[in-house]
Amino acid sequence: MSFDFKVADLSLAETGRHEIRLAEHEMPGLMSLRAEYGESKPLAGARITGSLHMTVQTAVLIETLTALGAEVRWASCNIFSTQDTAAAAVVVGTGTPENPAGVPVFAWKGETLEEYWWCTEQVLDWGNGTGPNMILDDGGDVTLLVHKGVEFEKAGAVPATTAEDSEEYGVILEVLRRSLAATPDRFTKIAAEIKGVTEETTTGVHRLYEMQRAGTLLFPAINVNDSVTKSKFDNKYGIRHSLVDGINRGTDILIGGKVAVVCGYGDVGKGAAESLRGQGARVVVTEVDPICALQAAMDGYQVTTLEDVVGEGDFFITTTGCYDVITAEHMQQMKDKAVVGNIGHFDNEIDMAGLAKVPGVTKTEIKPQVHEWTFADGKSIIVLSEGRLLNLGNATGHPSFVMSNSFSNQVIAQIEVFTKTSDYDKQVYVLPKHLDEKVARLHLAALGVKLTELTKGQAEYLGVHVEGPYKPEHYRY
Ligand code: NAI
Repeated sequence: MSFDFKVADLSLAETGRHEIRLAEHEMPGLMSLRAEYGESKPLAGARITGSLHMTVQTAVLIETLTALGAEVRWASCNIFSTQDTAAAAVVVGTGTPENPAGVPVFAWKGETLEEYWWCTEQVLDWGNGTGPNMILDDGGDVTLLVHKGVEFEKAGAVPATTAEDSEEYGVILEVLRRSLAATPDRFTKIAAEIKGVTEETTTGVHRLYEMQRAGTLLFPAINVNDSVTKSKFDNKYGIRHSLVDGINRGTDILIGGKVAVVCGYGDVGKGAAESLRGQGARVVVTEVDPICALQAAMDGYQVTTLEDVVGEGDFFITTTGCYDVITAEHMQQMKDKAVVGNIGHFDNEIDMAGLAKVPGVTKTEIKPQVHEWTFADGKSIIVLSEGRLLNLGNATGHPSFVMSNSFSNQVIAQIEVFTKTSDYDKQVYVLPKHLDEKVARLHLAALGVKLTELTKGQAEYLGVHVEGPYKPEHYRY
């Protein structure tokens, strides 16, 4: 593999290396996996194409994968989420067994959509016509590109872009058109080599189950998101930390005493509501699911529709993974200088395209990833990260400790599929509970947690083993 890469500035590598070194201290799960598997190198021979926010924490993940023997090529899964210091440090490498020669990274903060999909293409190109044999995805963009590529190669043509297609889908179609003209079987060959994908987030997992249902999934997939030690920690406690961080860095507007509207009360919404309440906001939740709505009410939040509170909110945060949750019409009805942000995976939760089309609206950049949109009547709203996930666009995403849980699941999932490929069909799997419990165990000592041990008699009484798993599959935590 040739050593090509594209990052913002290699001179940031030293700062990035210090950040990575400090993050390693906060990522006991990943560091224990390095200690456990560093010698046996279960990922030797793995060519992992990664598409996941290129942050300091991801740098520790990448260098764990290489320490376990993998070769890696990396892109970010969002145009604003890269930390340029971390990207530079990963490219430069350390001269140590973790990352002796550096890893090719294609990511910088503030990519255009064309650049973003160019980067995604680069990480699938391993030189001399080869591709990866593993994918590590966040949101499913690499998986999508491979599947669409194969679909259009089979059809022999890429469909024309229509007026209904989003700007981004138009870019994807253009990439595939070029690819098909140059190498008509490129993605078919790539897909045939791929042993599996491990997917990080709710939205990506949703896409995988859709493909499973349609019978179009081309390789096995592990749903990392639904490991308990991922979604019940990263999505909740990670957001509890990084949502207010993003709002503060973006706006520095006092949250206490204000009305904050959180759309969606799933795992991310629960963390978002708690973090805003922690700052003293009066939090209002909107939900479509009666169970989550009841949970929000019992947790003490007012639950109502967006239409009911649209003129009252000071902050509006979407956490749904759905689309058009906040429309251009909603935004015109908001109070002057209301802050609008999304923390779900894609930017379509807030109708940014609709906002840009409102007659007489103007957009002023206050600073990168913070824009004031002023309507014809003189009222304005502040939109964070152009509607993309604000915790990564306006701040630096989740902190290391919580990401150590998520990424330990990723590493274990990569080892599972790579070393036991024949055990997996072209379906979506979650990791077995004993591995989930293992990830949690790896993080207890750092927090000074003392675990109680079941006696043999107690274990028999409960119908479990002394060493676990402790809960049936259907248990919900
Ligand atoms: P979830 O499925 O647990 O929660 C989403 C909730 O939104 C559900 O309870 C659903 O009923 C509700 N909902 C759907 N449509 C709605 C609507 N129109 N109005 C009000 N509520 C609605 O999903 P989870 O795990 O909370 O993830 C949410 C999103 O956040 C996903 O896109 C996920 O990929 C992303 N995510 C982002 C992270 C970040 O760092 N920014 C971290 C983890 C996940």
